[in-house]
Amino acid sequence: MKNVIEVKNLEKYYGQFKALNKISFNVKEGEILGLLGPNGSGKSTTINCLLSLLNYQGGSIKIFGENMTADSYDIKAKIGIVFQDVAVFDELTVYENIDYFCGLYIKDKDIRKTYVEEAIELVSLNDFRNFRPKKLSGGLLRRLNIACGVAHKPSLLFLDEPTVAVDPQSRNNILEGIKKLNQSGTTVIYTTHYMEEVEMICNRIIIIDKGEIIASGTKEEQ
Ligand SMILES: Nc1ncnc2c1ncn2[C@@H]1O[C@H](COP(=O)(O)OP(=O)(O)O)[C@@H](O)[C@H]1O
Ligand SMILES: [Mg+2]
Repeated sequence: MKNVIEVKNLEKYYGQFKALNKISFNVKEGEILGLLGPNGSGKSTTINCLLSLLNYQGGSIKIFGENMTADSYDIKAKIGIVFQDVAVFDELTVYENIDYFCGLYIKDKDIRKTYVEEAIELVSLNDFRNFRPKKLSGGLLRRLNIACGVAHKPSLLFLDEPTVAVDPQSRNNILEGIKKLNQSGTTVIYTTHYMEEVEMICNRIIIIDKGEIIASGTKEEQ
C-alpha cells in the first residue's frame, strides 16, 4: 500500500516547551489510523503541523508524496479537516453551513447539491436541515461540524477528537459515518483519548504521550 502521509523526525516547540520530540510515522492509503493519547500529549499539535497550520522546528512532512507547505493548494484541495473545536456559522442553517464549506471546493451547483445531501444523510441530520446551530444539541452540532468537513469528498480526512462530549447515539452515528467514508476509499487520521474508539474503527494505532510515540501497530500487536 502507498504511503499517503510520511512524517520524519517532526519536532515542535512552543517557546522553550518541546511539544513534539522527533516523531516519525506513515499513513497508508485506505487505512484509518488512530492517534491515541491523553489530553496534552500532542495530538492536535501533530495534526496542525501536518496541515501546515503551525510552523515547526525540525523534520519533514510529505502528503501524497510531496512536501506539505502552507501554500500546497493542490494537496489541500484533496484534504478534509474536522477540528477539535466546532467551527460553523451561527447565522446559517444546517444545510447552508454544509453548502458553504462544500462550496469552497465544489463550484458546480448540481454536483454540490448532491454532495451536500449525501453529507446530511451520512450524519443523519435530515430532520434538522433548516435549524440554526444554536438550536442543535451538542451531539448534533458535532455531526454538523463533521458534515461540513467531509461534504466535498476529500480523499484524506483528519478528525481531531470528534466525539468529545457527545451523547452515545451521536457517537455511534459519527463512528459509523467514518467507517462508511473509509469504505468508500477515504484515508482517515483519527485522534482520540478513548481506547475503545480506536479499537472499534482503526486499522492501526499510534500511541502518543508527552510528544513522543510510545507504541504503534495493529490492534492485535498492542
Ligand atoms: N499555543 C500553545 N502554546 C503553548 N503551549 C501549547 C500550545 N498549544 C498546545 N500547547 C501545549 O502542547 C502540549 C500538546 O498540546 P496538544 O497538541 O493540544 O495536545 P492534545 O491535542 O493531545 O490534547 C500541551 O502540553 C499543551 O499545553
Ligand atoms: Mg487536542
